Amino acid sequence: MTRTAGAAAVMALALAALAGCGEGGDGRGRLHLPGPGFVPDPGRGQALFRAHCAECHGVDARGTAKGPPLVHPVYRPSHHADLAFHFAVRDGVRQHHWHYGDMPPVPGLTPEAVGHIVAWVRAEQRRAGIR
Ligand code: HEC
Repeated sequence: MTRTAGAAAVMALALAALAGCGEGGDGRGRLHLPGPGFVPDPGRGQALFRAHCAECHGVDARGTAKGPPLVHPVYRPSHHADLAFHFAVRDGVRQHHWHYGDMPPVPGLTPEAVGHIVAWVRAEQRRAGIR
């Protein structure tokens, strides 16, 4: 599972890099990744998470009846890299780990906003001893 997801992410990156000509820039916007020099801010991430993700993942990212906890070993960095968060927000997620149904794409968030959110979720994971 871990290797497959990692390999899929690497493949997606490689494909996106290959397909990246013609849009200008270095393809990061297309990949939904923050630009170079981005400084993540977990405090902003928490506020953004509460506004856009908490409905399903819970105000403290411990889950609700509509979505799984993200402060959970399954979402540790080695199993779901930061890229998985960017893809989840941009494209949504098909139900595969749990039984809550699919996650719809979350519109209106910049790559930087997602970068802040990831920083906060990672900090919460570390606080919970998940590394
Ligand atoms: C409408 C409910 C809903 C909202 C809103 C939502 N999610 Fe999800 N999310 C889910 C569900 C359900 C899953 C689990 C899918 C599965 O694996 O079965 C999920 C899974 C994920 C995953 C795991 C992706 C993977 O590759 O397995 C990440 C990361 C994630 N969500 C991040 C977010 C973030 C960040 C936000 C806010 C910007 C957000 N979600 C908003 C329902 C939601």
